Amino acid sequence: MSEIQTVSITSFVSLPLVHRGKVRDVYQVNEEELLLVATDRISAFDYVLPTPIPQKGAILTALSAFWFEKLKSIVENHFISCDFDEFPAAIRQHEELRGRSTLVKKTKVFPVECVVRGYLEGSGWKDYQVTGNVCNYNLPENLRQCEKLPRPIFTPATKAQTGHDENISESEFANIVGAETAEQLRSISFEIYKQASSYALTRGIIIADTKFEFGLDENDNILLIDEVLTPDSSRFWSLDNYAPGASQSSFDKQFVRDYLETLDWNKQPPAPELSPHIVEATTARYSEAYRILTGKNLEINEK
Ligand SMILES: Nc1ncnc2c1ncn2[C@@H]1O[C@H](COP(=O)(O)OP(=O)(O)OP(=O)(O)O)[C@@H](O)[C@H]1O
Ligand SMILES: [Mg+2]
Repeated sequence: MSEIQTVSITSFVSLPLVHRGKVRDVYQVNEEELLLVATDRISAFDYVLPTPIPQKGAILTALSAFWFEKLKSIVENHFISCDFDEFPAAIRQHEELRGRSTLVKKTKVFPVECVVRGYLEGSGWKDYQVTGNVCNYNLPENLRQCEKLPRPIFTPATKAQTGHDENISESEFANIVGAETAEQLRSISFEIYKQASSYALTRGIIIADTKFEFGLDENDNILLIDEVLTPDSSRFWSLDNYAPGASQSSFDKQFVRDYLETLDWNKQPPAPELSPHIVEATTARYSEAYRILTGKNLEINEK
């Protein structure tokens, strides 16, 4: 197999860039459509690392497309196509966009992250250790790290422009999006989590927690947008190896974080390079999550 090309950054004179996130570059295609380009960038501890992860952008793109299709009966979504050969000519001239790009309906984004947690980990576990609650949800005593919660909880956050997203209470959430919309986003988020996590369990993956984003289309319909249920937006654990009481090995970049913790990096820029075996193992983790969830190997079709 030929060496797979990585893409760390994109830029085109013919397409206006509207946003560059830590992982994705977003272009305006026309008044109604955007192109979301998942690069191979990886971030950890809020910094983009200098080393790209081969296939990561393609995996995130294909996995989101899989979920948009699967979840479309719950809520409409922004997905138009990720078939490069169907894209407008202005995009097709940029071969490096193949496989990593999604044409989507442009929406007015709600400036909130809709987080659903089914298990106690991350900031939820930190919160629980200090307060015995998670974001004002009263929980039973003596829950262990990564333990399954009695029922999933909704812990919205703001979409911070820089740095960490901040958890907000449900009333702050309602103030931002309006009470009626708040209730809709909450119930849609729960329903997606419920259906997706039951499906994932049948494939041997626990979706411990995840975050969704929503936007309004031109008719004020709520659309599910952004990326969905990827290792970058969710914690995926192997059901077979699940053992609460400690952190779980996950399909996301925990592996990369653990590696970075072994270096004496002070978590300030510049972030260190990843070693080749960490890069390879990270690609393998992302591919494995895709293969298990979809039942298929991702074909990277380069021309
Ligand atoms: N259909 C859509 N309409 C409008 N904006 C969208 C749509 N889908 C996704 N977006 C926006 O595109 C951006 C994707 O960028 P990306 O996720 O890489 O960066 P980010 O979320 O801004 O920052 P971070 O680096 O913390 O992830 C997000 O701001 C997201 O809200
Ligand atoms: Mg994002």
